[in-house]
Amino acid sequence: MRIGFIIGSLSEKSINRRLFYGLREVIGERAELVELPIGELPVYNRDLDDRFPDSALEFKRGLGDIDGLIIATPEYNRSMPAALKNALEWGSRPGGQNAFPGIPVGIIGASSGRLGTALSQHQLREVLAYLDMPTLGQPEFYYTFDAADFDPETGAVGNATLYRRLGDWATAFFDHVEKNARETERP
Ligand code: FNR
Repeated sequence: MRIGFIIGSLSEKSINRRLFYGLREVIGERAELVELPIGELPVYNRDLDDRFPDSALEFKRGLGDIDGLIIATPEYNRSMPAALKNALEWGSRPGGQNAFPGIPVGIIGASSGRLGTALSQHQLREVLAYLDMPTLGQPEFYYTFDAADFDPETGAVGNATLYRRLGDWATAFFDHVEKNARETERP
């Protein structure tokens, strides 16, 4: 099984990337995980619909080649980051060529705030519904980042509760992907 992932933060120190790497550790060999990078995508402009930049073409190609998608999103100003929304714009265009429909997706998120990205994820869910993506409902994964939960050297998850939560989420996510399996177009 080939699962794409998007990290909604462009920061090299991203706590969402750290959380995702914790999830990756828990997932182990259950799936091949491939990043769909969003950092090189220019700000979406519909004037480019007939001459997509290479980064956007690659992003869309990546979406065509996965069985499921995991989005790790921060919360910026009670919403999803602009970089993530921008990627959703590129993947959904030009009109009639939305690359997202049918891809089973799950969301996780880490923030420094107490809500653990709940508001950001809530908004993201609305957009994913419009993009026609079957989205994992439960368990939700809101996480208030605590550096003490991770090994400072290796990044491994050192907190048993977090490890178990990630494991439960991963199990539900893979069930969701299987239930919503789509025909993928492999090159
Ligand atoms: C934040 N942060 C934040 N946190 C939160 O819980 N709710 C919020 O609305 C916001 N708003 C916000 C706006 C902007 C522009 C920034 C840069 C940050 C704090 C945020 O949770 C923290 O910076 C995380 O580290 C962001 O995740 P990444 O980028 O490290 O993955």
